[in-house]
Formats: sequence, structure tokens, C-alpha cells
Amino acid sequence: MQPEFLTLADTVGAARRRSEKWAAEDPDVLPLTVAELDVALAPPVADVLAAAVAASDTGYPSAAPGLGRAWAGFAERRWGWILDSAAVRAVPDVGVGVVEVLRALGARGRTVAFSPPVYPPFWSWADEVGAQVCEVPLARDPWRLDLPALDRAFAEHRPVAYLLCSPHNPVGRVHGAEELAELVALAARHGVRVVADEIHAPLTLPGAVHTPLLAVPGAAEVAVSVLSASKAFNLAGLKCAAVVSGSPAGRAVLDRLSPDLTSRTGHLGVLASLAALDHGDAWLDGLLTELAARFDQLGDLLGRQLPEVRWARPEATYLAWLDVSALPGDPVEVFRRRGRVALQDGARFGGPGFARLNAGTGADVLAEAVARMAAALR
Ligand SMILES: Cc1ncc(COP(=O)(O)O)c(C=O)c1O
Repeated sequence: MQPEFLTLADTVGAARRRSEKWAAEDPDVLPLTVAELDVALAPPVADVLAAAVAASDTGYPSAAPGLGRAWAGFAERRWGWILDSAAVRAVPDVGVGVVEVLRALGARGRTVAFSPPVYPPFWSWADEVGAQVCEVPLARDPWRLDLPALDRAFAEHRPVAYLLCSPHNPVGRVHGAEELAELVALAARHGVRVVADEIHAPLTLPGAVHTPLLAVPGAAEVAVSVLSASKAFNLAGLKCAAVVSGSPAGRAVLDRLSPDLTSRTGHLGVLASLAALDHGDAWLDGLLTELAARFDQLGDLLGRQLPEVRWARPEATYLAWLDVSALPGDPVEVFRRRGRVALQDGARFGGPGFARLNAGTGADVLAEAVARMAAALR
């Protein structure tokens, strides 16, 4: 099942999508920004949504127990992780899941730690629950958790929780099993809970192995995870994610979440997630092969046209974290204004001098974008 990507012709005129990524830019700008995938829906997902619309089946969601069963099947097939299907709670999206878990952990007035450069809402989520932020930047070359710095920060700032991004957006790092085991040991030693945002896990690329945090020995005692099919299957607008626990301690956190969260989840999101998790493997495998090819292409294009840009090929996601610090001026601004290509400024992620490029698009769109970026600098 080959995924169908948008082409350059789909980026203009009436064919142009209306979601945030597209609506935020002028009509002649190629948006390589928000983490939406420029791909046609996986056929099992498209079919279930079309059938629901045809039947006007657009009421409230009925997520349990289907969502838990579907995640358990997907996690076992893709990652060899046996999760308890009864310990899965549907929530509208990952942001809501993280915020409500932080509230349940009593984060108000306390400190939440995480590791920039990272997905910008990590700051606003902490702010939303009334927590202070403790930034513990990733170590570099290669990008990885800075475990000694986390040890010091946990001791000094006593955060209530550490927000883990696994795999890590924007650097595309798939944290290794040993690194995660060390994080769990640190968290246990310092009494810090770990909230793992694993939204990018289904997008682990060929050659890398995702370790679900709750599969790490001891992790279930200190952590809960938030999962969603939305990033890999492009379902963000449909609103369905899942908070998962693996121990009585984790279940106690789930039990403190309002039951209303589940009824605020999107019915179409639940239906689409079930179809994706139960029947999307072949399509997802095709997608991952295509994304790997897209990163081959990006490496080639950058090497020939923008050799001053440095980057490390991601192990997961469709996002490339580009070091543009060797380029003159404000390259993101120049790319947008003169090249009509939008990237996201790394400063928003806590990574000044970098830009995030969304490569989850058609090969011709990517080629045109890099050509325009190079021309804009000349
Ligand atoms: C790491 C990470 N977490 C969460 C989200 C947003 O997820 P949701 O739309 O389910 O809140 C994104 C979106 O790009 C993301 O990259």
C-alpha cells in the first residue's frame, strides 16, 4: 500500500489544503512548517471516515474498550511491548493528555523539567498548569539526553515531572533503551515522575528501534505515556490520543483524570485511530520507506545547493533540524520573504541558529523548496 504524497500542483489554487500549515502562509508560499503530513489518508482510515460521514455517524465517541485493544495490538506488533489494554484512557489530543496528567500530578506551583530544543508547547503546557520550567538542554553531537545534567537538575530543582519527548521533536533522536533506563533510574532516585510524549513513535524510521518508555524495567512505577496515531496518520484535526499507564501508581494518575476527557475526544478521531492502528501497518511501512527516501533526497539537495547547512539525519519523524548558523542574516526570514518557502525558526524550540524543515511532503515539493531556498540566498 503506497502512500500518495501531494505534488507541487496540489500546493496552489483550489487544491491547496485549509489546515493550519497551509492557511497560515500566503498562497504562493510552500509551507514546510507545522508537523502535518502532505499525504493522502491511509485507505483503511479514509474508508472508515467516508462510511461514518455517509451514515451521518458524527455523534459522541465510544472509545472504550476499543482504543486500548487497538493500542495493545499495535504496540506489540510494532515494538514488542505488551501493554495493559485496560490501562489506556482516551483524551482529545496529546497536549490535553500531558496537561491533564501534569494537573493530576499536582504540578501547579511546582517545577516541570524538559530538554530543549523541543516542541514549543512544552513551555505553554507547563504555563497552562501554573508550573515553572526547568530547561535541561539535550547534549549534542549526537543529540541525546544529558543524563549528568538531568541528575543535577533533579537534585537542585526537585521537579514534579520530567516531560520526555520520545522520539524527540525536533532533532529526530530515538532515545536508546540504556539511556531511557538511566533516565528512569534518575527519576526514581529523585522522586520525579516522567510524562512521555510518544506521539512520534510510530514514525520511527528503518534502522532505528523505538523503546516505549513503559517497557523499560522500572519505568511503569514512575512514568505514564501519551500516545497518538495522529502524527503518523495525519489525524490531528480529528482529536484522539491516549494516556497509558503500566502500574498501580500509573493507574492512580489515570484515575485522577476527569472521565469527561474521554467524551471530549472526537468520535471521528476514535474511528480513524482504530482503523489506523488495526489496519494501517502496511501503509505505515510504505510511508516510512518513503520518508527515508525523502531524507536521502534532502541530504543530496542540501549537499549540492546549500552546503553550509549542517544537519543530522533523523532516526524518526519527518522533520529535519537544520543548523543554519553559517548562513548570513536571518535565513528563515530570507527563505520566506525572497524564496516563498516557510520553515520554522529554531528559536521557537529553544534552538537559535537552527530551522525546522518538514520533509513530509512530495519529492517535487521538497526539490522546489530547496531550490528556492538556495536561490533566495543568492
Ligand atoms: C512532540 C509533539 N507532541 C505533541 C504534538 C501535538 O499533538 P496533539 O495535536 O495530539 O496535541 C506534536 C505535534 O507536532 C508534537 O510534535
